[in-house]
Amino acid sequence: MFSRALKPVAAVAVQNGAKNFSTTSQRNYKVVVAGASGGIGQPLSLLLKQNALVTHLALYDLAPVTPGVACDLSHMDTPAKVTGHKGPEQLADAIKGADLVVIPAGVPRKPGMTRDDLFNTNASIVRDLANVVASQAPKAIMAIITNPVNSMVPIASEVLKKAGVYDPKRVLGVTTLDVVRACAFIGEINGVNPTNVSVPVIGGHSGVTIIPVLSQSQPAVKLSDQGKIKALTERIQEAGTEVVKAKAGGGSATLSMAYAGARLAGSVLRGLNGESNVVECAYVKSDITEAAYFANPVVLGKNGVEKNLGYGKLNAYEQELLKAAMPELLKNIKTGEDFAKK
Ligand code: NAD
Ligand code: LMR
Repeated sequence: MFSRALKPVAAVAVQNGAKNFSTTSQRNYKVVVAGASGGIGQPLSLLLKQNALVTHLALYDLAPVTPGVACDLSHMDTPAKVTGHKGPEQLADAIKGADLVVIPAGVPRKPGMTRDDLFNTNASIVRDLANVVASQAPKAIMAIITNPVNSMVPIASEVLKKAGVYDPKRVLGVTTLDVVRACAFIGEINGVNPTNVSVPVIGGHSGVTIIPVLSQSQPAVKLSDQGKIKALTERIQEAGTEVVKAKAGGGSATLSMAYAGARLAGSVLRGLNGESNVVECAYVKSDITEAAYFANPVVLGKNGVEKNLGYGKLNAYEQELLKAAMPELLKNIKTGEDFAKK
């Protein structure tokens, strides 16, 4: 059901040079990575530089190393042009004319912190970036990785609303890592290649708001015991914390997030490019539940989110998980909206 990550670079007629490249893709896309010099930003940019649909990769960050990251990536023999943009005075130029703006800018967790503890620092970063998207690339799709995702998407949405350019189809919270993790863990349990596993993860992106719908896994999860299903569910919900603890103060997931972010970005571009049946879970404006934003499978198309597929049938345990998630999700959304309206 879910689209798989990156098309292999080998599929691109690189040996014939960039000129021939355009024959394999119908359109050319400018992709911005905001926060490009960070733990996620660098490997994400590395993966996007290999994406056949990207013709311009604009790297934006505050860090002094940013022009160097761009220079480094520009030596890769793939067609995408890479530009580096450092500091707020170069932000407009980075964003101008973008088709897709992927945002991993902001601080990550340290052990003992919740994602909500990042709100005070990251809220203004996402607000300021959204303002520039509104003025420089109002039709761009924003894919927000920055935590807490549950609150950052409402912030960006409110900013775009205020600017009069909001299109709910074009603002996505990136929850792909939850799906990637669920597939990895199920692959391990079932003893199968995880790339052949498909499972929706719905709700939001933090703790109890992460709801793996294991009953819809294809193939079915080989766990008959409800206790083991509960343990797997909780492992997926707490997988971010597992990485934060393992990195022992060195930050949170970066490499798996870059992989997941590149997959989501690739799917957005494939949708823009006219491919049909591109499906990913993403946290989007929603009327599926009482929460104004909710993650579940969506079809990505020429305008971003073409269709919300909802979450299908939940078993009794998953319905309980949804019930438990709702107060937290509603609170996170309100926090974001209140901040942006201030
Ligand atoms: P990091 O500290 O390694 O990198 C963040 C980068 O953002 C840095 O290079 C920093 O200079 C840059 N930055 C800070 N303020 C900026 C601004 N105003 N404009 C542009 N760039 C700015 O952190 P990281 O590990 O890459 O994580 C980034 C964010 O992604 C965190 O908030 C983290 O919690 C989140 N995250 C989300 C998911 C998810 O599944 N959605 C997964 C992992 C991490
Ligand atoms: C994750 O799920 O890995 C990210 O949200 C980062 C974090 O803080 O856990």
